[in-house]
Amino acid sequence: MKGSADQYAVVGHPVAHSLSPFIHSLFARQTEQSLTYRLMDVAPERFTERLQEFFTAGGRGVNVTLPHKTRALALADELTERARLAGAVNTLAVRRDGSLLGDNTDGAGLVQDLSVNLGWPVRDRSILLIGAGGAARGVIAPLLALAPRRIVIANRTAERAVALAAVFAGLGALEGCGFEELGGQRFELVINATSASLTGDLPAVPAAAFGADTLCYDMAYGRGDTPLTRWARELGCRDAVPGWGMLVEQAAESFRLWRGVRPLTAPVLAALTGRTAMPGGSAD
Ligand SMILES: NC(=O)c1ccc[n+]([C@@H]2O[C@H](COP(=O)([O-])OP(=O)(O)OC[C@H]3O[C@@H](n4cnc5c(N)ncnc54)[C@H](OP(=O)(O)O)[C@@H]3O)[C@@H](O)[C@H]2O)c1
Repeated sequence: MKGSADQYAVVGHPVAHSLSPFIHSLFARQTEQSLTYRLMDVAPERFTERLQEFFTAGGRGVNVTLPHKTRALALADELTERARLAGAVNTLAVRRDGSLLGDNTDGAGLVQDLSVNLGWPVRDRSILLIGAGGAARGVIAPLLALAPRRIVIANRTAERAVALAAVFAGLGALEGCGFEELGGQRFELVINATSASLTGDLPAVPAAAFGADTLCYDMAYGRGDTPLTRWARELGCRDAVPGWGMLVEQAAESFRLWRGVRPLTAPVLAALTGRTAMPGGSAD
């Protein structure tokens, strides 16, 4: 094994469901990196204090999940451009001078899964992005960088979608609206960035959004179909996938930031989706 046993963790509340320790232990074994990676359940009011303790004790980096991604943004000494655009940090890394770099690898994870794992070119395609929370915000700039024809952000609370579209207006063809305003429009890619799947719900998007050739991508993941991927299939959609690939790819980006090596993701994705006791929920 190379290097010393550096310490990493995933910080969330709750966090017991997180698959990040499993994923990063496989990455470490594969790349022969000596590190430990653990769960840290931290209540919001103790976030800064607990992280400072962790880093003072020699911790080298953390993944940050709900509900702490904007707290992590405030804690970082410097942000990557993609974290600044995302308005949230899912990865913190201690640099040589002891300062904290905040990054956001969610968008890169989605784009890598779409473009490489699924072989689905985004260029010139029409995209419906459902949801206007942190996950949606994190993927807009990376998607626009691939020059889609247009992205429509639709959200249950329409004003949030309109406001989000305004933030990124200078980067490409983008609009925001409520579900009803979608009317009969059909899209080539539908991405679910809502947390509706976590409660077994379907976002109320019109069925017309899906055609047989539409790729339905749900950022949520669990055993088998999510409510949205199941519905899309019922509507005749040939390709409907949950967000396992995004989960593994965003983790690989974090690992690369910390360790300087990007692990192979295919074996880890296969190990995760092949697990007999997969969790039913979804969270990174
Ligand atoms: N695969 C991955 O690696 C990965 C990475 C990041 C996130 N995710 C997943 O992405 C999802 C969203 O995370 P987030 O951080 O963006 O959450 P968030 O900031 O809390 O945003 C939640 C979004 O979901 C919408 N929503 C919630 N319940 C809904 C329902 N029943 N019908 C329609 N819309 C509903 C909200 O709409 P309102 O604005 O109207 O409340 C809001 O747009 C989670 O499932 C998370 O696990 C996956």
